[in-house]
Amino acid sequence: MEIRKVAVIGGGTMGRQIALNAAISGYDTKVTDTIPAVRENVKKWADEYLAGRIAKGRMTAEQVEEIKARFAVAETTQEAVKDADLVIEAVIEREDIKKEVFREISRFAPEGAILTTNSSRMPSSTFIDCVKDPSRLANTHYNNPALVMKVVEIEQNEKTSEETVQALVDFCVKNKKTPVRVRKEIDGLVVSRILHAINEEALFLVENGYCSIEDVDKACTEGLNHPMGPYRLMDLTGIDLNFDIRRNEYERTGKKPTGYDLFKKYVDEGRLGKKSGKGFYDYT
Ligand SMILES: NC(=O)c1ccc[n+]([C@@H]2O[C@H](COP(=O)([O-])OP(=O)(O)OC[C@H]3O[C@@H](n4cnc5c(N)ncnc54)[C@H](O)[C@@H]3O)[C@@H](O)[C@H]2O)c1
Repeated sequence: MEIRKVAVIGGGTMGRQIALNAAISGYDTKVTDTIPAVRENVKKWADEYLAGRIAKGRMTAEQVEEIKARFAVAETTQEAVKDADLVIEAVIEREDIKKEVFREISRFAPEGAILTTNSSRMPSSTFIDCVKDPSRLANTHYNNPALVMKVVEIEQNEKTSEETVQALVDFCVKNKKTPVRVRKEIDGLVVSRILHAINEEALFLVENGYCSIEDVDKACTEGLNHPMGPYRLMDLTGIDLNFDIRRNEYERTGKKPTGYDLFKKYVDEGRLGKKSGKGFYDYT
């Protein structure tokens, strides 16, 4: 099960970086998107990124020419997947759209191709009925920004074959990524679950008057050597995003999550974190 050609479906925040990372690592890669302006922008973005690598002395002009020759933007999904050994789906987080994409990929990709989803919320078993061979279906979850972050979580479903997992592990290693195997499907995978647990505890400690925001962050940066404390990180990822996660959880479970009221208050006040100038910290 050797992977040589890669297709990425969806050229947004994640898809373009996953695709360029594969091209940099030596794979013939095609990326596609339904929106023409996105397809054009992907090409421009990749050119600018690679020019930046030359300017910083990280790549030679010759290396960049080789990468560009391996990196193509395809007009359609059919064109992108027709000779791919691995297809990574990275379209918007909508189940109906992703299911349609998997049906299309399964129809046009070669028989032995491995199909994966980059979804943060949907396990690959969501798409079992959309593909011909579920033994070649899995999650490959890159972290954002995908060109920089090392960990790729490889999550198998009940039908994923060992051969598929091994091929994906090898692919990640060749991409200079660190594969983390998730042997059974679980909501939130590993990185997000651990981060969530830290955030929950950080919120509990402040909400109940045990500690200040600043001291919780200090405990993590100076006591655990984390590069950033949880409150600063929540400011960076966005108070609105953190609120959305809790609102979804509240709707799903009927139990109010830790920090719900505080996040709601901040969102109502427009305190969305670093991007709005104020969150837990003041950036103005
Ligand atoms: N953004 C993150 O931090 C992050 C991190 C890890 C995983 N993910 C996952 O990656 C996936 C993509 O997220 P994103 O942040 O890149 O989204 P995004 O909105 O930036 O990009 C999604 C792209 O998919 C395109 N698209 C929609 N329907 C399509 C179709 N039928 N065919 C081809 N392209 C189509 C859209 O035009 C858009 O450009 C999601 O499943 C998300 O859960 C996101």
